[in-house]
Amino acid sequence: MLVLGIETSCDETGVALYDSARGVVAQELFSQVALHEIYGGVVPELASRDHLKRLLPLLQSTFDQAGVRRHDLDGIAYTAGPGLLGALFVGATLARALSFAWSVPALGVHHMEGHLLAPFLAPESARTGLDYPFLGLLVSGGHSQLISVQAPGEYTLLGETLDDAVGEAFDKVGSLLGLPYPGGPALEKLASEVEKTDLEFPRPMAGKPGLNFSFSGLKTHVNQFIAAKKAANAWGGTMPAEVARAFQEAAVESLWLKCKRALRDTGLKRLVVAGGVSANRYLRDTFEVGASKLNAKVFFPPHAYCTDNGAMIAYAGYLRLAAGQFDQQLGVNVRARWSLDELSPIALSEPIV
Ligand code: KG4
Ligand code: ZN
Repeated sequence: MLVLGIETSCDETGVALYDSARGVVAQELFSQVALHEIYGGVVPELASRDHLKRLLPLLQSTFDQAGVRRHDLDGIAYTAGPGLLGALFVGATLARALSFAWSVPALGVHHMEGHLLAPFLAPESARTGLDYPFLGLLVSGGHSQLISVQAPGEYTLLGETLDDAVGEAFDKVGSLLGLPYPGGPALEKLASEVEKTDLEFPRPMAGKPGLNFSFSGLKTHVNQFIAAKKAANAWGGTMPAEVARAFQEAAVESLWLKCKRALRDTGLKRLVVAGGVSANRYLRDTFEVGASKLNAKVFFPPHAYCTDNGAMIAYAGYLRLAAGQFDQQLGVNVRARWSLDELSPIALSEPIV
């Protein structure tokens, strides 16, 4: 089964073709980072206009790369939410128009389901042992959620952030450190300039019961720390790198503490960490060491599929299209907010490849 995936929920235009027998056969990704950089964050109207400009050429080159034609296509998956409404509409409208024109079914996919299942796109050696049920940790610019995944499409939200998402905290602290947008990758790079730091920032929610997260207090703490150092003329040298490192340690350890608790509470032995922040090396190392101490195994998406991309949408869409799900209404529906546990289960009709 050959499925086209279209992702336009935020500031990346992603197009990919997923073949159930061969995996991802082609993909194109255009990042709008340079467009939004001067504003320090994504400007929704600019994002929509740019998706509109990029989509058709990316679509054409994805088909060219794969060497397939539209007649080979069995379905079209597009991100229907959550995300920026205008941006979502661009991808959704194209997907539905192609579906009518080419007489192939289309399906609106949940962006976070795409992230959550992206580790299944890893080469076989990297996903040995990956199966349902598992504990999922979604860490992106808009979400920090712990999810119990009982079976494909069966999600129970166990915990989430009470304020900022962890990626958002990386971006805001990055901006306090004068780093370019998005702050996450730049902050990781700056943190790697020092091998260690004696600075220790608070681990938010560590002492509280339950599985929720909170990151805005940590960000405020870092803000006040930097302001105090600057006021005392003690800002400079290795201090910015140490602050980046101490923030990264505090943020990652706060995530790990809750994952550890959730693994113990649920008895699950498999943990999937996905979303943009799962690209972070320090996070990967901390989670791998921590999980092995609990006799659990942690799985990540391949690096190319950590941040937003069309391949993860094509894959999640493939699972649902193969199970007979598709959009039946005439209108184009997208959702800015959409909880994962509203999704319907997927009855797998083919083995996972
Ligand atoms: O999943 P994603 O591409 O978009 C959303 O759905 O939000 O995640 C983007 C987020 C941004 O906040 C970005 O700073 C963060 O992921 N991120 C990272 C790293 N790479 C991306 N955060 C920490 N370390 C990284 N290496
Ligand atoms: Zn995302």
